[in-house]
Amino acid sequence: MFHAMRTTFVLLALSISSLLLLPAQQPKDDQLAPYYPTPQTVVDKMLQLGGLKAGEKMFDLGSGDGRIVVMAAQKYKADATGVELNDSLVRQSMERIKTLGLTSSARVIHGDLLQQDYSSADLLTVYLLPVGNELVTPILEKQLKKGARIVAHDFEFAAWKPVQSVSIDDDGEGRSHHLYLYRR
Ligand SMILES: C[S@@+](CC[C@H](N)C(=O)[O-])C[C@H]1O[C@@H](n2cnc3c(N)ncnc32)[C@H](O)[C@@H]1O
Repeated sequence: MFHAMRTTFVLLALSISSLLLLPAQQPKDDQLAPYYPTPQTVVDKMLQLGGLKAGEKMFDLGSGDGRIVVMAAQKYKADATGVELNDSLVRQSMERIKTLGLTSSARVIHGDLLQQDYSSADLLTVYLLPVGNELVTPILEKQLKKGARIVAHDFEFAAWKPVQSVSIDDDGEGRSHHLYLYRR
C-alpha cells in the first residue's frame, strides 16, 4: 500500500516536472507538490529535528491545511508562517488558527512560495517534490541567514548535504518517512 502511494507521488513528480518545461504561466498549487499532508506524528518529529525554540520564526513552504504552522505555534510557541497557493487550504488554515486563538503567532500567506522573503527565518519546513526543492534552492541560498535550518520531508535537496537524516519506519498508519536536516 505504502509503496503504491510513494510510487504515485514520484510519478506525479516526474509528470509535473515535465509540465514545468512549458512556457511560464500563473503558478499552480500542484506544480511544486500536490496536497499530501504530513501525519501529525511526523510533523512533531520535523519540528523536533529542526530544534524549533520558543519565539523563533518558522515558515512552512506549501503549508497545506496549516498543520505544521499550528503545531509550531501551539506546542513549540514559535512565530509561525505558512505559504500556500490553494484558496480552500488557506481558508481552512486561517479558520483553524482563529479557532485555536493563535492569530498573534500563526498566519498563512496566500501566495506563491517562490515569491516570498525568508530572510528572517530560523527554521523552514518543506514537503515538496524534487522539482520544488530544486526551484526553491537558489532563493534560499540567497535569502537565508547563517545558521537557519531547513527540514525536508521525504525528498532531499540535491544541492545540499544534510547534517542529519532520520527514518521513520512506521508512522502508525503503515507509512515510512524520511526527514533531512540542513543548516545554512
Ligand atoms: C505535499 S503538500 C504539504 C503540505 C504541508 N506542508 C504538510 O506537510 O502537511 C504541498 C503543498 O504545497 C502547496 N504548493 C504547491 N506549489 C505551491 C506554490 N508554488 N506556492 C505555495 N504553495 C504551493 C500545495 O498546494 C500543497 O498544499
